[in-house]
Amino acid sequence: MPETAGFQLGDLKNSQDPYAILEAARAKSGAVFDAGGSWLIFGHAEGTEVLRNSSTRSGFIADGFRRRLPAGAAQDEMAHRINFLDPPDHTRVRRLVGKAFTPRLTASLRPFVETIVRDLLAKFPEDEPVDFVHDFAHEVPSLVISELLGVPVRDRDRLTQLSDQVSRLLGTDNTEDEMSNAIVGAEEMHETLRALLAERRAQPKDDLLSALLAAEDEREKLSETELLSLAATLYSAGHRTTRDLFSNGLTALLPRPDFIAAIQGGELPVAAVVEEFLRYETPTHMIGRMLTEPLEVGGHKIEPGQYIGVLLAAANRDPEAYDRPNDFDPWRWTRKPEPPAPLSFALGAHFCVGASLARLEVGVMLEILLQTFPKIRLHDAALSWHHTGVFRGVDSLPVILGPRS
Ligand code: HEM
Repeated sequence: MPETAGFQLGDLKNSQDPYAILEAARAKSGAVFDAGGSWLIFGHAEGTEVLRNSSTRSGFIADGFRRRLPAGAAQDEMAHRINFLDPPDHTRVRRLVGKAFTPRLTASLRPFVETIVRDLLAKFPEDEPVDFVHDFAHEVPSLVISELLGVPVRDRDRLTQLSDQVSRLLGTDNTEDEMSNAIVGAEEMHETLRALLAERRAQPKDDLLSALLAAEDEREKLSETELLSLAATLYSAGHRTTRDLFSNGLTALLPRPDFIAAIQGGELPVAAVVEEFLRYETPTHMIGRMLTEPLEVGGHKIEPGQYIGVLLAAANRDPEAYDRPNDFDPWRWTRKPEPPAPLSFALGAHFCVGASLARLEVGVMLEILLQTFPKIRLHDAALSWHHTGVFRGVDSLPVILGPRS
């Protein structure tokens, strides 16, 4: 991992305010930092250029997992994860996911999301603190992705726990404990998913696992390992980042009664607030890439095979792209010309498959929450954050919901 003038990537992991570190580094090194054979990209335009380039690859990350992990489920999952595949495998797997995970399927989930949000909120007390990360922000996406994939109620909690264990591997500098938990967890997770896939093969249902099995045709097939890795990836990608987007966003919104009143009054669209959540407090802070062709970016020439860390969190606060980037300001998405879309879902071949589902879920959660509990407030402003080197989220969010409307 590269070192920049002024900070090391490990500093982000240990900091409660990585944005201050990123801002200082950008001020020192500009939009593109040359770490001598590897690169860090802080700029929005520069990040966009790298991610959109057709010679951009991420397969070297799969190769790293293949080298580092012992043979078994964890290695299989990481080495075949869709976001670490390159063409032609990525093109084939992505096309199959696209056939099964359609915009229509996402839109059809809205009534289900509304129902679970209302049901969860109905159970909360009005005047005692509730941990909104654990009891709400985690629950909604976890129930939605289980429903979407077709994971039965009996397996949900265990699979969620296992996928959290395994996804620690996506962070940087894992401890030995994290590694061995991930390796053991992946075995059990794959066993459960393998049994579920066998059930769906024998008796298809109206769910994404059955649709993925049905999407295969003569020319395009998923190997058993690819299918397991995809099911596991969708399960974990489907809940953790969405939980963090909602909770991270609330930490910025709840101290602003003026924005809350504008949302409740219908002047400030919920979609604008979700966009600002994505920009201001993105759950995914960094992704890695390499190029197969040389590329000139921000006055630097990046050579094939050199490591590139695209700091999505820094790009989203780039002063060249956003006016007053460190202000949480959902109104910016209502002004013309609209600023460039945040890079939170990446761009190019690996653009997030679940972007519209995540937007739908967080929008519904926010809208119904503010309708149901118009006086919601933070119970304790002293928040603690985790940062895996890649993902950042608030650990807990104690709120007092106040009287129901
Ligand atoms: C706030 C929520 C989310 C965020 C911030 C997010 C972010 C991202 C990012 C940055 C990538 C690119 C990774 C890379 O190329 O290295 C990605 C890819 C992906 N995301 Fe998401 N994601 C979110 C929600 C979801 C959901 C709900 C699902 C599934 C239900 C999902 C499934 C995927 C998959 C399968 C990929 C890999 C796509 C490919 O490689 O072709 N994500 N996501």
